[in-house]
Amino acid sequence: MTDLTTNYMGLTLKNPLIAASSGLTNDISHLKQLEEKGIGAIVLKSIFEEQIIADTEKFIQKNDTDKMQTFSTSFDNIIKQKSYQYDEAYEYVRDYAQEQTLFDYLNLITEAKKTLKIPIIASINCVSAQNWHYFAHRIEESGADAIELNIYLLPSQIDMDGIELEKKYFEIIEAVKKQVNIPIALKLGYYFSGLSKTINELSNSGIKALVLFNRPFTPDFNIDKFEITTSNIFSSKHDYAHTLRWLAILSGRLGCDLAAATGVHEYRAAVKQLLAGADAIQIASVLYEKGFDSIAEILNGIKTWMEAKGFTKISDFKGKMNQLSVKNPASFERVQFMKLYSKI
Ligand SMILES: Cc1cc2nc3c(=O)[nH]c(=O)nc-3n(C[C@H](O)[C@H](O)[C@H](O)COP(=O)(O)O)c2cc1C
Repeated sequence: MTDLTTNYMGLTLKNPLIAASSGLTNDISHLKQLEEKGIGAIVLKSIFEEQIIADTEKFIQKNDTDKMQTFSTSFDNIIKQKSYQYDEAYEYVRDYAQEQTLFDYLNLITEAKKTLKIPIIASINCVSAQNWHYFAHRIEESGADAIELNIYLLPSQIDMDGIELEKKYFEIIEAVKKQVNIPIALKLGYYFSGLSKTINELSNSGIKALVLFNRPFTPDFNIDKFEITTSNIFSSKHDYAHTLRWLAILSGRLGCDLAAATGVHEYRAAVKQLLAGADAIQIASVLYEKGFDSIAEILNGIKTWMEAKGFTKISDFKGKMNQLSVKNPASFERVQFMKLYSKI
């Protein structure tokens, strides 16, 4: 009997396949369908820090229009402009306004927890450590099994060095950790000057999992209209390889679990990520492009492959091909490149 059960950030998943945060994890009917189709866990659509701040602004404008003329993206600045300062009124305005924004999100968590059996992971897309405590705490109170922080900090400022930027990740984690007892996962991109070192430090910062990697939004140009557009919202089936390399290099060395994300469209890519050491695998694009039946296809593919190889459980082969386990660890780095290019 093949057992796909896995443990991810302290949660028991009936299989390692997780529906990644997307527009398909934003309402209860889709969540039910995902569970019916066999998914192991779900990450809800992210709530954005900016979304909360914008709602706060609306609230203040509605209640005190004469003073609110300008808007700063920093919530604290808004409140200071309003002369509420850091007193009781400030706390009230902030908490009340944020509550309006969060209402639907918290309801979705509560409803999902009432209706579904699989773990529900809330998601917050954030860029700073400000104004956090409230959201994370309420998300936990609503019953979420875990929180995934999608920290999207592009190193685009030419006067900000890597150390300064990386500090922000740790500040956000610290702020959220103070507010919740449920496990925290961190989903991040790969724009770090010292990727392995930073990931190692993050893995030991008290989080329970790292999701490698987020797929960065990439702008494109419309050359007829001179407009900026969005390119390739969905990944392709070849995009798994970047994550595969880093999972293979890092797994077995870090202080937390690992979820593979980006480019898993079929069972072979899922098996590869497990061989590289992933504890779980997140999928989004394939759910959009092939529908929810792709879940069973991927799971059946993994099972059939396991049976053929004589594996009965995930731990029989998880990490079997990571850098710590293979005969030639240099394969993940320059040697493979040299071999390839010298032949062509
Ligand atoms: C339409 C769409 C919406 C998404 N929304 C979110 C989001 O709100 N939060 C988030 O962390 N990731 C979001 N993502 C990224 C996915 O969670 C996932 O990390 C990414 O698409 C790579 O996985 P894939 O190759 O399986 O698509 C979104 C992706 C898509 C395609």
